[in-house]
Amino acid sequence: MRRLFPVTDETAAPDSGGMPGEDGRGGAGREWSLAELAAAYAYPRAGSGGPVPWLRANMVSTLDGAAQHDGRSQPISSATDMRIFGTLRALADVVVVGAQTVRQEGYRPARARAEFAETREAAGQGPAPAIAVVSASLDLDFSLPLFTSPLVPTLILTGASAAPDRLAAAEKAGARVVTAGDGIGVDPARAVQALAGLGHTRLLTEGGPRLLGQLVAAGVLDELCLTVSPMLTAGDAQRIAGGPAVAVPQSFRLLSVLEEDGFLFTRYGRS
Ligand SMILES: NC(=O)c1ccc[n+]([C@@H]2O[C@H](COP(=O)([O-])OP(=O)(O)OC[C@H]3O[C@@H](n4cnc5c(N)ncnc54)[C@H](OP(=O)(O)O)[C@@H]3O)[C@@H](O)[C@H]2O)c1
Repeated sequence: MRRLFPVTDETAAPDSGGMPGEDGRGGAGREWSLAELAAAYAYPRAGSGGPVPWLRANMVSTLDGAAQHDGRSQPISSATDMRIFGTLRALADVVVVGAQTVRQEGYRPARARAEFAETREAAGQGPAPAIAVVSASLDLDFSLPLFTSPLVPTLILTGASAAPDRLAAAEKAGARVVTAGDGIGVDPARAVQALAGLGHTRLLTEGGPRLLGQLVAAGVLDELCLTVSPMLTAGDAQRIAGGPAVAVPQSFRLLSVLEEDGFLFTRYGRS
């Protein structure tokens, strides 16, 4: 993998070892260790006032803006994308995800990764991030391992008027229900505050697009880790963020770009 931005010695100086691509990994490219990736994607350090929530999204898009193919993101992803996906999870306290992505992608509990055990412990984190499912209907299969056998209890973010029988089913399965809205739905800003109240300040969302669109509209997204996949799919797939447009486009600034096999791994922060 190569770092394209910010410009480093690696990218500013001409390759000493042959033409780009000669080694099959982009010339100057080499496989980054997980520790290097974790350092490149570290959450901002807590200030003197203590940790404040930082919400990062990790999404993948094709060149023509598709966020899925055949209803899944896997066909537009790559092995390195999954490596970064795993690293971002390993850095997070909690992974916030929309119920439709859970249903469609067959979400399982996050794994404990031996490679990250020490750093998670040093950061005061449990062995794996909790998964927090955002749902109004609670139309979820609570017999799945995501709810019955996670390493840390799965959270359900929902509104105050969620159906009592579904709430009871969630809790019976072992999930922890967090109310973050007065009506049927979740208010994104309240969800962030509720998670912070549970000690989860390193927040990662994996979408999907309908959830991400609401996080954008509510102005609570601090960072976007966007993988640009060198593929074209045409069709009518969703973009990475859906729902009503914001009144004024929100500006983000480029923080870094990594590249491997034509995939760009970008990181943008709110301006
Ligand atoms: N390219 C990528 O990086 C990426 C990432 C993730 C997913 N995807 C793809 O995106 C597709 C699924 O995404 P999606 O946009 O259709 O759905 P989604 O955002 O994953 O989930 C939508 C569901 O989340 C719940 N929800 C969202 N906002 C809510 C709120 N404010 N309050 C309460 N519940 C709320 C609702 O669940 P209930 O219906 O249960 O009420 C809603 O139906 C899949 O094809 C997946 O493969 C792509």
